[in-house]
Amino acid sequence: MMKIVVLTGSPHHPGSSEKLADAFIKGAREAGNEVYRFDAGRRTSEFSLIQLEDNHPGQEVAIEPADVVTNEVMPKLLAADMVVLVSSLYYYGMNAALKAVIDRFYHWNHELHGDKKAITLVSGYGQEDAFASLKLYFEQLFRYMRWERVGGVLAADAWNEEKLAKHIDEAYQLGKQVK
Ligand SMILES: Cc1cc2nc3c(=O)[nH]c(=O)nc-3n(C[C@H](O)[C@H](O)[C@H](O)COP(=O)(O)O)c2cc1C
Repeated sequence: MMKIVVLTGSPHHPGSSEKLADAFIKGAREAGNEVYRFDAGRRTSEFSLIQLEDNHPGQEVAIEPADVVTNEVMPKLLAADMVVLVSSLYYYGMNAALKAVIDRFYHWNHELHGDKKAITLVSGYGQEDAFASLKLYFEQLFRYMRWERVGGVLAADAWNEEKLAKHIDEAYQLGKQVK
């Protein structure tokens, strides 16, 4: 049994990346895992962007507001065995709300390092090559966090319902394999 945290970033409902998340979670729960999900893109009014204290030359110091990220998401993330990042492709990058949650990692940077597995679920209208910068970003992020990426789904051409359905099934199978 794994403790899994799923962070989604898209504000779109129903959306293609949301469907990937739904399918992954269905599979992961069927396989007996515990899943906590935070839909950052649809809950932006409940948390703030990172805020820093003034006058700290050298090292930035975060101010932690008592919002849902501090109170709910972080405790789940700190305890998680696996983190699943879910995004649609927005201007060659991830959804801003997902990045906003990642920036909030800063206050817990050391505690979050190491000992986690990671998965990415990404969708977008373009073809595979449109995802190059986001793929590289995730690679570098996971290397820095020392999280082991154990899989992912890349749903290119997400406008194509037939292709998307295949990727949704891929996400479900990926979830089922998690133990
Ligand atoms: C603000 C915005 C930016 C987008 N940028 C890109 C992009 O750079 N490349 C791309 O292939 N698709 C882009 N798209 C299309 C989305 O990635 C595509 O519609 C995707 O399926 C949306 O997934 P979602 O419904 O889960 O948000 C963009 C869509 C929006 C709304």
